[in-house]
Amino acid sequence: MVNLENISFKKRIFLWYGIVLAFIILIFSITFYVSVKFAVTKNIKNSLKIISEEIKNDTKDNLNNLQKYIIYDKNRYPLSPLYIQIYKIENNNPVIVSVSTNLKGNNLPIINYQDKNSRFNKIKAMFLKHKFIMIFTQAIDKEGKYFLEVATSIDKQNKVINILLTIFLITGPLLLFAALFVGYKVVGNALLPVKIITETANKISVADLSKRVPQVKSDDEFSKLIMTINNMIDRLEKSFNSIKQFSMNASHELKTPLTIIRGEAELALRKERSAEYYIESLNNILKEAISMQNIIESLLLFAKLDSMSLSKDLSIVKINEVVKSVVDDFSHIAKKKNITILCECKTESKSAVNVSILKIIVSNILENAIKYTPKDKNIYVSLYEDNNLFKIVIKDEGCGIEEKKLNLIFEPFYRTDEAHNKDIEGYGLGLALVKKAVDILEGKIEIESKLKAGTTVTVSFKKNRV
Ligand SMILES: Nc1ncnc2c1ncn2[C@@H]1O[C@H](COP(=O)(O)OP(=O)(O)OP(=O)(O)O)[C@@H](O)[C@H]1O
Ligand SMILES: [Mg+2]
Repeated sequence: MVNLENISFKKRIFLWYGIVLAFIILIFSITFYVSVKFAVTKNIKNSLKIISEEIKNDTKDNLNNLQKYIIYDKNRYPLSPLYIQIYKIENNNPVIVSVSTNLKGNNLPIINYQDKNSRFNKIKAMFLKHKFIMIFTQAIDKEGKYFLEVATSIDKQNKVINILLTIFLITGPLLLFAALFVGYKVVGNALLPVKIITETANKISVADLSKRVPQVKSDDEFSKLIMTINNMIDRLEKSFNSIKQFSMNASHELKTPLTIIRGEAELALRKERSAEYYIESLNNILKEAISMQNIIESLLLFAKLDSMSLSKDLSIVKINEVVKSVVDDFSHIAKKKNITILCECKTESKSAVNVSILKIIVSNILENAIKYTPKDKNIYVSLYEDNNLFKIVIKDEGCGIEEKKLNLIFEPFYRTDEAHNKDIEGYGLGLALVKKAVDILEGKIEIESKLKAGTTVTVSFKKNRV
């Protein structure tokens, strides 16, 4: 048995198309043939019946004086040839009384003469070299003594019907083959885009995501599919490029402290050094090791956030308490720069939230605010509710960010020139983490900033029902 699932889609369509088409042609041919045959036979039978009625009317009052030979008027009746025969029943046997002259001395066969009902019979006539004739028999008188037989040859009609059958037998398969040929071409053309998509998809690899499926001219399902596939490759290319960039940046960031650690250790080991030298060297190594640890922790957190979802690890908390606890955690760092954090929470509402994600958001923004704000300034933290949304606003009076750089600061490892020039520590990962965390909360982050004036970061997220 052929398993249809193992053959190609094109062949499967073609096979079904062929089967359905053959079936339709067959049904059409049979129906047409049967209807024509039925109509022709019905027509002959009707004519025989009408003619028989006419002859019966002409002869029924004249049964005792019937002539031996009937000369019939060819133009009077619509059937040709027409054979007429009258017989009577004598002692239960049929005796021929009268026949039409065109029988040329032959007789029509007499079948079931005891049956007084009128009937049709289709039989082979000896006198016509065994060709088929249709006979209509009916009693002429009420007593059923005299019978009238009217017959005609149906050979011509049979021939026409047989020719029709031959035409169907020849044209049916021819038509089928022609339709299958055209169908094969049409299916092939229709599925051409699939072939193109497959070929292009085979050429696409991580090493080369620049290939695109060529668009077809038509505006159909295939063109939409190609557009969708190309858009998908666009997105994949972007995300592969950003992953590539991310790993390059990550390697670079890790390479710098590693190079320093190695250099420091090699220098210290080159000859015997004083205790002070070793202490300073180890301090430098420790500083770089901490820096590496921070980067790795941020990267791990980055990977962890990728698998997080809104509904994961939810706990019902007062949002103001979470915000206040983060502010408390950072107050001693702020104090070192004589920065005052003014916290104002206008709501005590509870919400189901992932606390660690919320803390990542608030702490990274607050950490930036402290880092990028000069000594003796203020930072304003506020929380309020607006249309079923929580809004956390962190405003600083720091160095600010250039407007054109506002859309870059969420990129991993991106740091502005100010951050580099002022030698402020950092890796450019904080806001990238914040962005990921805000996305998990299905929230929004907005930044307003003016160079040398300050920055305001607003995070909003939905209040979940408790
Ligand atoms: N409040 C702010 N004021 C001024 N510049 C800011 C502020 N917040 C962020 N930036 C700029 O955006 C950049 C990206 O910030 P992000 O928090 O991602 O990295 P980072 O603070 O430099 O390092 P990390 O957070 O990884 O320690 C910073 O380097 C800084 O240039
Ligand atoms: Mg930061």
